[in-house]
Amino acid sequence: MSEHTKKHLVTAALPYANGPLHIGHIAGAYLPADIYVRYLKSIGEDVAFICGSDEHGAAITLRAKKESTTPQAIVDKYHAINKNAFADFGIQFDKYSRTTQEIHKKTAQDFFKVLNDKGVFEKQTSEQFYDKENQQFLADRYIAGECPNCHYGNAYGDQCEKCGSTLNPLDLINPKSTISGNIPVLKETSHWYLPMQKDEDWLREWVENGILDGKVHHDSKLWRNQVIGQCKSWIDGGLQPRAMTRDLDWGVKVPVEGADGKVLYVWLDAPIGYISATKEWAEENGRNWEDYWKSENTELIHFIGKDNIVFHAIIFPIILKAHGDFVLPTNVPANEFLNLEGDKISTSRNWAVWLHEYLEDFPNRQDELRYVLTSIAPESKDSEFTWKDYQARVNNELVAILGNFVNRVAVLTHKYYEGEIPSADFSEEENEVLKQAKKLAVKSGDLIKQFKFREAQNTAMGIARIGNKYLADVEPWKLIKTDPEKVKVTMTLALELVSMLSETFRPFLPETSNRLNSLLNDRKTLAKPELLFQKIEDKDIEVQIEKLANSKIMNEPEPEKAGQLPAINFEDFTKLDIRVGTILEAKKVPKADKLLELLVYTGIDKRTVVSGIAKHYSAEEVIGKKVSILLNLEPRKIRGVESQGMILMAENAEGELSFVSPEKDVESGSAIS
Ligand code: MF3
Ligand code: ZN
Repeated sequence: MSEHTKKHLVTAALPYANGPLHIGHIAGAYLPADIYVRYLKSIGEDVAFICGSDEHGAAITLRAKKESTTPQAIVDKYHAINKNAFADFGIQFDKYSRTTQEIHKKTAQDFFKVLNDKGVFEKQTSEQFYDKENQQFLADRYIAGECPNCHYGNAYGDQCEKCGSTLNPLDLINPKSTISGNIPVLKETSHWYLPMQKDEDWLREWVENGILDGKVHHDSKLWRNQVIGQCKSWIDGGLQPRAMTRDLDWGVKVPVEGADGKVLYVWLDAPIGYISATKEWAEENGRNWEDYWKSENTELIHFIGKDNIVFHAIIFPIILKAHGDFVLPTNVPANEFLNLEGDKISTSRNWAVWLHEYLEDFPNRQDELRYVLTSIAPESKDSEFTWKDYQARVNNELVAILGNFVNRVAVLTHKYYEGEIPSADFSEEENEVLKQAKKLAVKSGDLIKQFKFREAQNTAMGIARIGNKYLADVEPWKLIKTDPEKVKVTMTLALELVSMLSETFRPFLPETSNRLNSLLNDRKTLAKPELLFQKIEDKDIEVQIEKLANSKIMNEPEPEKAGQLPAINFEDFTKLDIRVGTILEAKKVPKADKLLELLVYTGIDKRTVVSGIAKHYSAEEVIGKKVSILLNLEPRKIRGVESQGMILMAENAEGELSFVSPEKDVESGSAIS
């Protein structure tokens, strides 16, 4: 088989359409996938790059409950936001679909029926948590309790966000419903189970050695250690039957009789989304989807984050194989986690750099973020993003190495030849430099094929380093007086290197590559030089650091379970100066959708307080309200506004906020004790 009859089906994990994307998602799966695909396409390979929104599952319904809206409204909103953010960031999917599409529902149901008809599933009855008051079974995500491993108090039924371990809701200590706070009861229900224990043997052989049905299926040396390691530890621990259906009303209905009120498990539904999206793409582009899913000439690659490994390297392969006809992934390049400024990224604590916000704050600087995220990609271990490091990498590498080289070449070409691109024969020196540079270009591509994106990008940067060194060695600015012929040769080579940089960086920095191409102008005349990258100033990142500091403030202290705080004495309590105050003025804090800036009369003075209540109250409706205010809290700056005190709010289980106001009419300044 020649390289070119091969087809590549590349998928990136379908993100849940329940919130925006942050840099952890991007560094984890989407950027490496995009680099890989762009590279394959640049060498003429046949590739389909598939993604879309994961729109079912409890993550969505939970979010809808929180925002007092419908699941459909949630997925419509975030599908649009995420689709746009990907496009703006230059992640170029061939298809970005959604699992609420009819074609997907049908594909997933047909898939289930085939498995069911083949007798793949086992129906089992078991006891599951049930919320009596709301008359519903509780999905794993709807149950929280103490983690049996690390004793974090607020672990979900399926996973502990603190220690990362996968959980069974029945393992939780003191479980409660996250919707109602009720203590759930156990109730019987029956489901279709995938008896995964039956697949242990072939899976072990496939994951560890790349052997399937006695034949070489893939090169297991190209699989990342952590992927093989995680799978091995699952298999060695013994695979358990896993329910492929759930009692929920949001999802793909189970297409068999006796399954009322049941939907497909989201981890069966979503990966099939890769197939349905491929069908849509194929139909729109005159291709046959089966060439990509059912042909031995296909390389199927799943790009994911590490929390998705078992689903893509164990469960989905079992399902594909059980169905028959489908190919299995030749690699599942999973990244580890990206941390942020010393902490785990957390959506709920707003400890994240949101992609759409970055694109707003740093317009036309998507390549800068792409560059930094690839430089620190958590390919073999967790890594960390900090704004200082972002600034340093942009300024010291993109600006000082790549930008500097291109700029020097452009300026000198204009100075010496008025932009006319020279062409002269190389001497041995130039041929040697060119050879070294070409070696790096080839190596960079090879590294991409091996999923080593970090090293691949660094290798590409080596070409600019070679260019800078060459110019520094030859010093054309000195030679132009004495040996103009040599300068012509030098600049010819330098322009050759610019062109090579444009090609080699194309998968990593597509926008930059386009700009280099228009600079080179089909190698006719060189366009007017413009700086390729601008320095990131201190003030640009200070704003970002402050933004993060504010989300720390807004989220501390972590809500503790009632009755668990240590006792304090009366004297401690008297240190708090809490009074009744009246809100005189209120306005929204620009660019902060949670914050209102209030002017409060405290009986002693009027003071400004920034309060995180804008999601719950409009500015107009709070004016005139009597509230409780803590006066002697250290002043702090929130979004550039000094806040002098804190308004006390009551928060219910849904996170709704309400003022704590005196029940009788009491004057402003009255002490609360
Ligand atoms: N929505 C899942 C997540 O964000 C990923 C789904 S990947 C798929 O973790 F394979 F199920 F599509
Ligand atoms: Zn834990």
